Amino acid sequence: MLFEFFHKPLEGLSYEKKKSVVQNFDRHILSHFEGIAKRLIDVINEADRRYYIEDAPILSDSEYDILRRAAVILRRNRSDLRSLLADIKNVGAKPSEKFGKILHRVPMLSLANAFTDGDVKDFAERIRRFLQFKSETPLVFTSEPKIDGLSLSLRYEYGKLVSAATRGDRYVGEDVTANARTVHDIPQHLKDGHVPDICEVRGEVYLSHADFAAINERQEAAGKQPFANPRNAAAGSLRQLDPAITASRPLRFFAYAWGEMSAMPASTQHGMIDAFRSFGFKTNPLTKLVSSVEEMLAHYHAIETDRANLGYDIDGVVYKVDDLLLQERLGFVSRSPRWALAHKFPAQQAVTVLEDIEIFVGRTGSLNPVAKLKPVTVGGVVVSNATLHNEDYIRGIGGDGQPIRNGVDIRIGDTVVVLRAGDVIPKVLDVVLDKRPADSKPYVFPTRCPVCDSHAVREVNPRTGREDSVRRCTGGLICSAQARERLKHFVSRNAFDIEGLGGQRIEELYDEGLIKGPQDIFTLEARNARGLQRLENREGWGSTSVKNLFSAIEARRSIDLNRFIFALGMPHIGETTARLLARHFGTFEALREAAKAAADHDSEAYAELTSIGGIGEVVADAIVEFFKEGHNEDMLDGLLREVKPVPIEAAQTDTPVAGKTVVFTGSLEQMTREEAKAMAERLGAKVAGSVSKKTDIVVAGPGAGSKLDKAREFDVQIMDEDGWFELVGRK
Ligand code: IVH
Repeated sequence: MLFEFFHKPLEGLSYEKKKSVVQNFDRHILSHFEGIAKRLIDVINEADRRYYIEDAPILSDSEYDILRRAAVILRRNRSDLRSLLADIKNVGAKPSEKFGKILHRVPMLSLANAFTDGDVKDFAERIRRFLQFKSETPLVFTSEPKIDGLSLSLRYEYGKLVSAATRGDRYVGEDVTANARTVHDIPQHLKDGHVPDICEVRGEVYLSHADFAAINERQEAAGKQPFANPRNAAAGSLRQLDPAITASRPLRFFAYAWGEMSAMPASTQHGMIDAFRSFGFKTNPLTKLVSSVEEMLAHYHAIETDRANLGYDIDGVVYKVDDLLLQERLGFVSRSPRWALAHKFPAQQAVTVLEDIEIFVGRTGSLNPVAKLKPVTVGGVVVSNATLHNEDYIRGIGGDGQPIRNGVDIRIGDTVVVLRAGDVIPKVLDVVLDKRPADSKPYVFPTRCPVCDSHAVREVNPRTGREDSVRRCTGGLICSAQARERLKHFVSRNAFDIEGLGGQRIEELYDEGLIKGPQDIFTLEARNARGLQRLENREGWGSTSVKNLFSAIEARRSIDLNRFIFALGMPHIGETTARLLARHFGTFEALREAAKAAADHDSEAYAELTSIGGIGEVVADAIVEFFKEGHNEDMLDGLLREVKPVPIEAAQTDTPVAGKTVVFTGSLEQMTREEAKAMAERLGAKVAGSVSKKTDIVVAGPGAGSKLDKAREFDVQIMDEDGWFELVGRK
């Protein structure tokens, strides 16, 4: 890429001319400075646009840095180019400079923390003493989950959202109004006739586990670093310069507190929460009134037990005195209210010994190192396995090639820190270096598959030139581990969802040669009827379970196309991408044909594949590779004889937008960006991320910027959201 960039000034010149350029290098290179500067501007602006707006970087971080540095050097040394180079937009500026500031008229304070039951008892007693309450005087609290997201203050004037600010330094937050407007749970207008004229509602912005997983799937498909946890992803999504990116991330919001209020709609904490709900906010359904320490602790433990099933991260429970008059009397101590307490869940970290490292071979052949630990209790659960991610992680190198843990490697025999966060797989976080045995040796990662002995390699990404962090077995389906894992994936809940065919049964049937590939699942009943060794005579099966299994299999002979695609287990194709493909191609045959034609990277089919929003080259290449494999072809032929994939909400062809290319820009107010996209695609339109001559319609919401200018330049039809609804005949 860089070579190509610097080579450009010589492009199109004859050999003689090039020779003379090289001979008079200094003079010529100086005359080319302006051209280079112009190209720098173009490339940097385009790289920024692709990175920040389309989530699809075209440069590696180091390439980008070189170009930025080159621009700085040129700007410093060539005063004649200074104004030209000022044209480089500052999209990549530091976050702190990204947003305007908003002063919180009521500061956004934090909560005092408690870790033990005793702390909670002390808290209740302290309050009673302060208020001079006798032990029999009733004292009621609200008890609610402490959401692990980021707090946001929303200001409504006369029922209309006027600003949204992050917590910042408690007194001054960042202005994220445009982004907050794209969050579905944040009303633009408050319902109900009793909304105070000035009404500042505060609460937590967060992401569900499922949405977090989908975002990371997209990040990885676009070749970007995945987010470490839902809170980071939520913060990264809210603090975006382009509201379109925020809109594409399904952020959620729970209201639980307030700032400035011109009138109070209630006199209790729970009354305020009820009022917020009637204004149109989501409030946490696990909020409860409790009137003794015992009830507080019982609620805390109930929420802790249910924690993994909530679908979003929480890190404790918050108790608040319910009566607002009492809250006022209690007031604040330094930065936290005396009337509230955050009862945190126990630390999710523990220290133990790494006894061994085992390599588990995944469905795509990835060699996944698993730490075998001396069992230890982490946050109430016994942990004996934890992930070590990959070879580089063990060596002390992060996903970006930079050292992690100060470059300390992880060795068998080490004393390690284990982290268990929410319901995710525990991981080895750190090494206690002081306790490293003197005779320990660096771990040598295998270069052959421990299951089938095929070579295990780290592929080099041709575009970034970087090695993939994952080492993969090259054995494909001759590797029994891969074959089994693919089968398990095929029958899993979000794929074919075949009840009665869990992991263990798959292993049993695979090991005995009864099911070698997905197609065999559907011929099992017929083979069983003919066979001598019937499944129903096996130990642990029984005739009812076999009968149920066969009817579960029968029920899946027709299946939604997106599930079918997802079930195939192509690398990088998660549920979201599978749905995109299903919607775009309509039928499996269309996808298959396109994927085969796309083997030629210069083909239209490849261009079409990569033009589907959300599908980058990494994903496109994975699809092409999958359909290139002969054994996958055979498997698909066999499978399609048994199973019929059903198109999902096929794109329509007789709508006013069918076949048109649409770009959505600015913040949409009546639908999320994903909804808009899905709707357009359902109506047969193609949705693009940027405006070009091929664009037919630009739907622009408030805050639309350069895309709108481009649309005008290309004379593209521009409309607002209402115009769009009118055009497609909705509303
Ligand atoms: S009440 C004046 N309630 O915890 C107290 N905070 O350390 C206002 N949080 O910054 C906060 N869930 O981001 C409250 N149900 C809840 C909460 C909650 C999460 C966060 C919030 C705040 C931090 C306090």
